[in-house]
Amino acid sequence: MKTNRSKVASAKFFTKLGYSTCWEDPEVLKLALDVNDNDRVLSITSGGDLSIGLLLENPLHIVSIDLNAVQNFLLELKLACFKGLEYPEMLSFLGIHPSNKRLRLFEKLKPHLSCSALTYWSQHPGLIKNGVLFQGKQDHYFFRFGELLRVFSGRKKIEALLTHKDLFTQKCFFDNLWNSRRWRWIFDFFFSKMIMSRYMDPAHFRLVKDVRYGPLIRKQVDHVLRDLPIWENYFIHWVLTKSYPGGACMPPYLQENNFETIRSRVDRITIVSEEIETFFTRKNSGTFSKFNFSNIFDWIDDHNFTLLLQSIAKSACQNARLCYYNLLRHLVVPDTLTAFKRKHTLAMKLLRQNRAMGYTKFELYEVNPVSLNRRRLEDK
Ligand SMILES: C[S@@+](CC[C@H](N)C(=O)[O-])C[C@H]1O[C@@H](n2cnc3c(N)ncnc32)[C@H](O)[C@@H]1O
Repeated sequence: MKTNRSKVASAKFFTKLGYSTCWEDPEVLKLALDVNDNDRVLSITSGGDLSIGLLLENPLHIVSIDLNAVQNFLLELKLACFKGLEYPEMLSFLGIHPSNKRLRLFEKLKPHLSCSALTYWSQHPGLIKNGVLFQGKQDHYFFRFGELLRVFSGRKKIEALLTHKDLFTQKCFFDNLWNSRRWRWIFDFFFSKMIMSRYMDPAHFRLVKDVRYGPLIRKQVDHVLRDLPIWENYFIHWVLTKSYPGGACMPPYLQENNFETIRSRVDRITIVSEEIETFFTRKNSGTFSKFNFSNIFDWIDDHNFTLLLQSIAKSACQNARLCYYNLLRHLVVPDTLTAFKRKHTLAMKLLRQNRAMGYTKFELYEVNPVSLNRRRLEDK
């Protein structure tokens, strides 16, 4: 299978820290994949939050894969926090709480890092000193948006949005005060092709055709701001305030109640730095019952999409599940691949519940390799 290495993996964006937090809703992932204690999961690393969060569902094993080794170094660093720090230290180290002791805390993490991760973080002390959760390029982009909104809409209006505690007043506020021409203009400008390509690398969008990015993404964001409880939406708090309110309004892997459970399971994650296309060509890539593919198909052309689906079908157990997002394209599994049964109603429902800003499409499939075999026999 041809890989994307020439186009995407070689883009500058993918040689640095792109995502310090995951911009996908763990609650959606939990309901979509329905991970249980018999599961072997293949999950895209990105910021690492979702792979770590999946440990809470008690799977047998998780392989967390990313073509960008730096994303995996971040995952290692986050996992090391569970091994080497206590809960308040972890929040200070990652940047949630103010601290001038991060480099000292890093000393406690060193024994829990691989040589390559240790080398990377030792060579980038600034990323640690300033709170690693704030250092991803995508996070910077979102923070810039938050800053722009503070300037143009005013701090008070943002505070008013975030302090809602019931949906009726939140909706009224959105309809009457928030959804102004100014909001639409700022949003459409900031999430235009021109600005997004500057921050995220044009390689992200090389396969997107004929859409106006801003209005399409804004439709989903308006729904999040208007119809989903803002008081439990840690994604929106992160963008607008650069912090999490705490308690349950933060990613599950950072919640105090989950700390000991995750700590006892961190060794169930195996980290792989490789393109998923080449990973599947290895004989010992293993079998999986759940696949979390983030939005990697946004960057994969139709031909390679089909090849990857075939690899998934080959490495899937009975009744496996695959889920993925799309940002500006929409890729649906071709009908010819009968191993995949689309779970469209549930996927649509989950997309409506997705609290993270951005994704316009979400797909969920049940995967049964047997039906692929049956089809092959039928074809003969
Ligand atoms: C798909 S991106 C999107 C992240 C998401 N928007 C978020 O905020 O969490 C997540 C990760 O996928 C990785 N990735 C993209 N294509 C890949 C591939 N073909 N194989 C392995 N990893 C890939 C990128 O390096 C990136 O770290």
